[in-house]
Amino acid sequence: MRSLFALSLLVLSACGAEEPAKPVAPAEPAKPVEPAKPAEPPAPAKPAEIDPATFAAMPDDEKKATLMKIGESVYTTGGSTGLACVTCHQPTGAGLPPSFPPLAGSKDNMGDCATHAKIVINGLSGPIEVQGVKYDGVMPPQGNLTNMEIAAVITYERNSWGNDYGVCLPADVVAARG
Ligand code: HEC
Repeated sequence: MRSLFALSLLVLSACGAEEPAKPVAPAEPAKPVEPAKPAEPPAPAKPAEIDPATFAAMPDDEKKATLMKIGESVYTTGGSTGLACVTCHQPTGAGLPPSFPPLAGSKDNMGDCATHAKIVINGLSGPIEVQGVKYDGVMPPQGNLTNMEIAAVITYERNSWGNDYGVCLPADVVAARG
């Protein structure tokens, strides 16, 4: 028995010694996993890129509805290049006195398209008084917004939160840019 055991050990070890080391097959390089392509979401209609001829051909109520829709999005997101007006002037248009003036009920600075457009284009700083409260802050200029976006956000402000000051058109903004 003992010798058989020894023999088998010998055989085993001899085998082990003679067996040429198998070259380790190089691991297959991991194939880069193709990232699953997300389904292309339908490109959201860029409201500011509404074809001017299409807009011009709309009846007045449709023009207003279009401006209100684009305007709400500019007010809440800043549109293509602007700052979301909502951050400072608040969702209710009530502002944050005494830092940011209200837009609700503020006809002095908003009732006229050109005045309102110039505030958006050039920004506003220096002391002003709105509804009996003094402000002396800085509103950054946002003239990089398109004429359509500016007309729209102005129209939105002039017709929200109880305001009823009428529509401003892209042509009014062109005139305000001077
Ligand atoms: C970073 C904060 C901020 C943002 C964003 C901002 N405003 Fe203003 N806005 C102000 C401040 C501050 C004033 C007052 C400036 C002053 O004291 O002279 C003002 C004033 C105004 C006024 C005139 C005052 C009034 O209430 O009658 C209008 C109109 C106005 N902003 C419209 C807008 C519109 C439209 C947008 C977005 C396109 C916008 N603002 C974004 C801070 C902001």
